[in-house]
Amino acid sequence: MAVLTIEGGKRLSGEVEIHGAKNSALPILAATFLCNEKCTLQNCPALSDVDASIKILKHLGCKVVREGDQIEIDPTAAHNCTIPDELMREMRSSIVFLGALIAKCGKARISYPGGCELGPRPVDLHILSLQKLGALIDERFGSIRCRRVGRLCGNTINLPLPSVGTTENIILASVTARGITKIHNAAREPEIMDLAGFLNACGAKISGAGDSVITIEGVEKLGGCTHRIISDRIEAATYMAAAAATGGEVLLKKVQPDYVEPVFYAFREAGCELEIGADTILLRAPARLNRIKLIRTQVYPGFPTDAQAPMMAMATVARGTTMFIETIFQNRYRHVDELCRFGANIKVEERVAIVEGVDSLYAAEAQATDLRGGAALVIAALAAHGESKIGNIRHIDRGYAELETDLQALGAHIKRVDY
Ligand code: EPZ
Repeated sequence: MAVLTIEGGKRLSGEVEIHGAKNSALPILAATFLCNEKCTLQNCPALSDVDASIKILKHLGCKVVREGDQIEIDPTAAHNCTIPDELMREMRSSIVFLGALIAKCGKARISYPGGCELGPRPVDLHILSLQKLGALIDERFGSIRCRRVGRLCGNTINLPLPSVGTTENIILASVTARGITKIHNAAREPEIMDLAGFLNACGAKISGAGDSVITIEGVEKLGGCTHRIISDRIEAATYMAAAAATGGEVLLKKVQPDYVEPVFYAFREAGCELEIGADTILLRAPARLNRIKLIRTQVYPGFPTDAQAPMMAMATVARGTTMFIETIFQNRYRHVDELCRFGANIKVEERVAIVEGVDSLYAAEAQATDLRGGAALVIAALAAHGESKIGNIRHIDRGYAELETDLQALGAHIKRVDY
């Protein structure tokens, strides 16, 4: 079992290169299963969720070769259409294999996905949407059995909410369906654009990705391509929050600033200076942060729910009171009790959290409760005086590649200790 030990109170300063986006890499890895030629993905982050996707692809019969941040997938010999429970449970994104499996194999058997516990995370919209495309689905005894008779058929799907995973699943299922599929109220996240970009490079006909109406004209089959994964906007926001919480200065490189834009207002309100380049973001924090009046999480291009916990860690040391409203997930404040161990002053009432900034945090022992909540604890520990220990870091490893190395390069005293 590994823990992170962090000697906090050091001002972070320096440069960090942002890795490829986890939430792009995962659906794109699932999409490679649909292809009929080799695919090469560049800028793939070294994360346990990426390892889990590779395990699924291999289980399905794909050949996968990984070299550094490049992954080569040869799906031509894939033969399996079942994903066992232990692989499904490793992450939430395993559910997007369903769309790819039913489209390519004509049948699929999977169980329910795992992933961070953020309150109820049903898959009802995924199921209903695939049914609209003609999939016959039977949910029984904890497994989802899916089959089709003939090709799936394009349809118009009106999503009641712009679910990211559901939008991805519809795209994967409909890309080789007969006719045209239209998704209304589709998710607009950059990761959806990346998935569509990858599929179009393989011969798909998808338009409107990034807008709330996406049109998919089914094609007979997909080829392959070489594709570079976009940079991780949440990793970028996390390093910005870490630097800000320590009064530091950080230059993010290899980043796509447009995608990080929804968090800029909060840093500026906190008193940070931002200099935005073509693929860089420079953040310069004041010695003491100001409060941010309100952080309300929203779907893209609103403030991302995935940046809520890291920003909350930062707000614990600001001057004044910051209010958070979490609108996407029902229970995404599990990090709050752990942040309070560092001396943070936070009250939660349903979807609202009120953070009363304190002069300083003290070192503590805490347990990561989920991926972004874990990152929030790292930030609190970096800002706190003394040596902190953070356990349960398998959550953090799901979404932050080379975290210790990158933070060390910024001057943090952080190390991973195996017990
Ligand atoms: C994606 O999860 C991300 N995961 C999450 O990132 C992110 O927090 C989330 O989108 C929102 O931006 C990946 O991309 C792998 P949703 P996803 O479907 O697709 C409800 C991180 O930290 N819903 O947009 O699961 C759901 O319960 C992670 O990197 C249904 O009710 O999110 C939630 O309240 C965590 N029925 C809301 O929609 C469904 O069938 C948004 O979920 C599907 C979703």
